[in-house]
Amino acid sequence: MTILVTGGSGFIGSNFILNWFTHSSDTLIINLDKDECTQLNHLSNYQFIKGDITDSALVEKIFNTYNLTSVINFAAETHVDKSIHYPFDFINSNINGTFNLLEHSKKYYQNNKNFRFVHISTDEVFGALSNDDPAFTETTRYQPNSPYSASKAASDHLVRSYYHTYQLPVITTNCSNNYGPFQSPEKLIPLVINNALSNKPLPIYGSGKQVRDWLYVTDHCNAIERVLSNGISGETYNIGGNNEKTNIEVVETICRILNELVPTNISYSSLITYVNDRPGHDFRYAIDSTKLKTQLNWTPAESFETGIRKTVEWYINNTEWLKNSSIKLNDWYKTQYK
Ligand code: TYD
Repeated sequence: MTILVTGGSGFIGSNFILNWFTHSSDTLIINLDKDECTQLNHLSNYQFIKGDITDSALVEKIFNTYNLTSVINFAAETHVDKSIHYPFDFINSNINGTFNLLEHSKKYYQNNKNFRFVHISTDEVFGALSNDDPAFTETTRYQPNSPYSASKAASDHLVRSYYHTYQLPVITTNCSNNYGPFQSPEKLIPLVINNALSNKPLPIYGSGKQVRDWLYVTDHCNAIERVLSNGISGETYNIGGNNEKTNIEVVETICRILNELVPTNISYSSLITYVNDRPGHDFRYAIDSTKLKTQLNWTPAESFETGIRKTVEWYINNTEWLKNSSIKLNDWYKTQYK
């Protein structure tokens, strides 16, 4: 089996590759990503190709070189705040990049009928819930609110169209907020751990009462494996951790664990700082994963309480990784002001 993982150097993609090789050694995994990923370099049966999913010649070459059994498309710009200020990369990577992969997949599929395309997406395409609304299901109407979620919604629609128009065997998964090792400190949980360990303010947007449904990244990776092996082409599957928490609850939990594991003379929660709200901030996301649980027999192993403790411990033990990611992120922001 040979899998092309796009965006395999990112948070979920790299966890997927590491998790895959914990139980299966005879698959070749090709990682197509703009950046190399040092935590994957030790793996055998792993190849890194530096490049962009929008690069048609490069993607064509990969399809001509390898006997691919599947593509798993993790490659995406994913941070809502970035998309509000710098939407161009989101439109380009998430929409044009997915389109390019689909075009080459379509050609390749003509002579390789066992091929399938798994597209990793987000619950944010469904828009926002109030506290009283039922959780998102696979039939919830798409109502994206940010340039990020709109770009993912567009890519989901393209994927769907390639099934209906060209019979390309595709599956889309829509997940809730992920957390765990190797997540960029642009996102709430690693940002709060990073700032707390550096004695910097912990910014809470608006009231802090917004709700996210937290999914431990390895649980997500196991769900994608189920979908890859047993999912039905043309279907979509929602993946959620069934762990709805307000943002302030998440930040206070992190502070409590840090107080215990890295005590200082102050409580980390004294660093909590309420700041201006995000424009168009979606109030609540929640995923109903009944379909995945009943049809593909998936259950998440981690509760938020077990997963967040593991996660905080991981960042405490990998402060160098966190610092470097934070420097890289700041450098990226500087290039945007040129
Ligand atoms: P984030 O990790 O950016 O994920 P998403 O926007 O895709 O849900 O944010 C999670 C929640 O935390 C979201 O409601 C915005 C909020 N948030 C803050 O309050 N402060 C922050 O510094 C960040 C990055 C996010």
